[in-house]
Amino acid sequence: MENRMPAFPDSFLWGAATSGHQVEGNNTASDIWAMEHVPNSTFAAPSGDACDSYHRYPEDIHLLADAGLNAYRFSVEWSRVEPEKDRFSRAELDHYLRMAATCHERGLTPIVTLSHFTVPAWFARDGAWNQPEAPELFERYCRQVVTHFAGEVTWWVTLNEPNVGALLTATGLLAYGGPAEAAQEDPAEAFARRVGGEPGTATVALPVTTPEGVANLCEAHRRARTAVKELQPKARVGWSLTIQDFQAAEGGEQKTADMLRQIAEPFLELSKDDDFVGVQTYTRMVFGPDAPLRQPRTERTFQTGWEYYPQALGNAVRLAAGFTGVPVLVTENGIATADDDLRITYTREAITSLREAIADGTDVLGYLHWTLLDNWEWHAGYAMTFGLATVDRETFERTPKPSLHWLGQVAATNGACLDTGRP
Ligand code: BGC
Repeated sequence: MENRMPAFPDSFLWGAATSGHQVEGNNTASDIWAMEHVPNSTFAAPSGDACDSYHRYPEDIHLLADAGLNAYRFSVEWSRVEPEKDRFSRAELDHYLRMAATCHERGLTPIVTLSHFTVPAWFARDGAWNQPEAPELFERYCRQVVTHFAGEVTWWVTLNEPNVGALLTATGLLAYGGPAEAAQEDPAEAFARRVGGEPGTATVALPVTTPEGVANLCEAHRRARTAVKELQPKARVGWSLTIQDFQAAEGGEQKTADMLRQIAEPFLELSKDDDFVGVQTYTRMVFGPDAPLRQPRTERTFQTGWEYYPQALGNAVRLAAGFTGVPVLVTENGIATADDDLRITYTREAITSLREAIADGTDVLGYLHWTLLDNWEWHAGYAMTFGLATVDRETFERTPKPSLHWLGQVAATNGACLDTGRP
C-alpha cells in the first residue's frame, strides 16, 4: 500500500487572499493613493481602477467558491470607512458586510484584515504609526468595524506585516523603490504637501522603521485584539507576519540569529497571546557572516527577483508555531510568475512542505494563497502576476488560470490529490 502522509485537519481553511487597495480601485482617501500621485512617486504606476473589486467582489467570491475553495481573506479599507478623522461611513461598513454575507452565501469563511498596509490620508498627515495617538485611533476604527459586523465574521487579522519595516531595515533591502534622483523634488515632501501635513511628520504608513512607530504598531495590535474579543468573545484574532525561511550559510549562524531577533521574534512574542499567528512566506533568506547572500537567478526566479524555494513554507510555519505555541494560519504564500504551470508546481511543493510540518505536529489552521487576481503590486504597479486568475485591464473580466482549478481540487479533496499527480 502507498504510504500516505496524514491528511490535513477536517476544518482546514483553503482559500486565497487579497487586499483592498490592491484590487478595489479608487481608494482616493488613502495614504498610498496620495503617494502614487506625487511627482517622482516611487510607484511604477498608480493603482487607478485596480481590478474594480469594489464593485465586482461578487465575481471574485464566485470564482473562489466555483473552484472549490472554502475561505476568502480580504481587507477592509480604513480610508473608506473613516475618510475624515472621526467621520465613519455607514454605507462603506455596509459594503464590507455585504462582502462577508456573499462569502457565507457561497460557503466561504471570511477572514478579514483590518489594515493591509494602507491607512487614511489624514492618519498619514499626522504621522501615521509614529503619532502617539495611533494605537487609540486604530482601536476606535476596529471597534466600529467589529460592532457593525455583529458576529458575521469570526476570523480577524489586525495588521498585515507589521514587521516588514524590520525585515527591510535589518537586511538592507530598504531601497525597493529606488531613491529619487538628485535635483528632483523629494516625493516625501510632495506627499506631505498633498495630504496637508508637515514634511518630517506626514508619512506613508508602511514600512514602519522608527522605534516609536514599531512600539505603536505593537500597542495597536494589543488594543485591537482586546477590543475585538470584548465585542465578540468567540472571535479568533491574530496578525500576519512576514516570516521567510531564514537560513544560515557557513559562518552565518550568528548573523541569522541576530536577524531573527530583529525581524521575527519581537513580533512573534505578541502572537503568544493571540488565537493564531498569520504566516506569510514566499522564499528563503540565506545569511552569510555579514549580510544576506544573493542567490543566482534561474528561469524559476520570481518576477520580483525572489528565489524559487517553495519548501520555505514548511520551515516558516515550524518556526512560528515553535516560538509562539499558538496555531498557524498561512495568510499568504504564492509566486510572481507568467508561467502558470510553475505556479502549480511551486504551490504543490509549498503545500507538501506544509503537510510535512503538520505531520511533525505543527498546528496549522489553513492555507490562503496570495493571490486571487493579477493585481496592483505596490511599487511594481501591474508588472507582477501573482494571481490565480487574470484580469483584463480594460473590461475587468476575470479569467481563471489552471492554477485556480488545481488549488480548488486540492481544497475539495482536502489535500488528497497532492499524492495523485495532477487533479
Ligand atoms: C503583502 C502583499 C504583497 C505580497 C507580494 C506581501 O508582503 O502582504 O500585499 O502583494 O507580499 O509582494
